Amino acid sequence: MGKPQVVVVTGASAGIGRAVVRLLAKRGARIGLLARGAAGLNAAAAEVRAAGGGTLPIPTDVANYDEVDAAATQVEERFGPIDAWINVAFTSLFAPFAVIGPDEYRRVTDVTYLGFVYGTMAALRRMRPRDAGVIVQVGSALGVRAIPLQSAYCGAKHAVNGFTESLRTELLHDKSKVRITVVQMPAVNTPQFSWVRSRLDKHPQPVPPIYQPEVAARGVMHALDHPRRKQYWVGASTVGTILGQRLAPALLDRYLARTGYDSQQTDQPVSPDRPANLWEPVDEGDDYGAHGVFDSRSHPRSAQLWASRHRRSLLGAGLLTTAALAASYGAARVAAAPPD
Ligand SMILES: NC(=O)c1ccc[n+]([C@@H]2O[C@H](COP(=O)([O-])OP(=O)(O)OC[C@H]3O[C@@H](n4cnc5c(N)ncnc54)[C@H](OP(=O)(O)O)[C@@H]3O)[C@@H](O)[C@H]2O)c1
Repeated sequence: MGKPQVVVVTGASAGIGRAVVRLLAKRGARIGLLARGAAGLNAAAAEVRAAGGGTLPIPTDVANYDEVDAAATQVEERFGPIDAWINVAFTSLFAPFAVIGPDEYRRVTDVTYLGFVYGTMAALRRMRPRDAGVIVQVGSALGVRAIPLQSAYCGAKHAVNGFTESLRTELLHDKSKVRITVVQMPAVNTPQFSWVRSRLDKHPQPVPPIYQPEVAARGVMHALDHPRRKQYWVGASTVGTILGQRLAPALLDRYLARTGYDSQQTDQPVSPDRPANLWEPVDEGDDYGAHGVFDSRSHPRSAQLWASRHRRSLLGAGLLTTAALAASYGAARVAAAPPD
């Protein structure tokens, strides 16, 4: 058995990050867990230990570069060189643009955009001199196609794609062996809809179809193991959204203007004063785990992700079938031909 992978996951305590941590723990990785809230971090660390992995939970605000870099140092002191860095941590704000304050906009951008930039910087500072390592950015279909009521988030996710693409060209230019890839996600059933700041009347929800965080985590693990591709798309809805945006962006503007408010809210009223994780964590005392409150409406699997993960074997099987059909067609023609 090879040396265990050393991996840092930001946003490791809940949602997609937590589901990724569980899969990493199963393969015995040594994992640096970065997030702010103690309850989620400690519960995630306990799960890793129970699965036989090594873990170092480090309370970190990803909007602070010094904290992120210090966390990277701690991980390397404990486990050795970081093999992979997975940026997941984020926050958002559900509200029309007109009622978002400048400080709130800055904070979402600091966490959701600059948090990814800082994680990437801390990772690259260590990976570049070794000419080895993988960085995975957890992206979103909303980083390609923006929707109403989430302008700060959508802007930040678009920015993640922009800076990652630029950096990728630099790494290719330098013939670096460090790899960076993005996994564009569909709507996922995570705690975010219960704890991000919201000024909507009703409880926020992911725009259906909704997938379970394990689907997202399998996509991240595939990207981690095959990081040469520029991007991965998880879920048929992600494929539809990105292709739809390429083909008819103005039509989508009108469609989302009509449907995007209702599709992001349930029928349940929600207090505008509910606790929010914008500035501080809200998990004190409570571990929110990987899943949100939409279990009964969420898909545990994605046929599209399966096909994407197995595309080589599918291509091979397709070629074999075509060859077999061509051969049997040829044989049938020979058999049907009149004797000389
Ligand atoms: N869920 C979806 O529908 C969906 C769809 C597309 C893409 N995504 C992407 O998936 C990623 C994770 O989303 P999620 O839904 O799993 O989120 P989530 O359930 O809200 O979990 C967010 C995680 O980030 C941590 N975090 C928040 N602010 C932080 C900060 N300032 N510093 C450090 N850690 C912080 C949280 O812990 P603390 O609050 O304790 O710090 C938590 O561990 C995001 O990048 C998001 O863009 C999600």
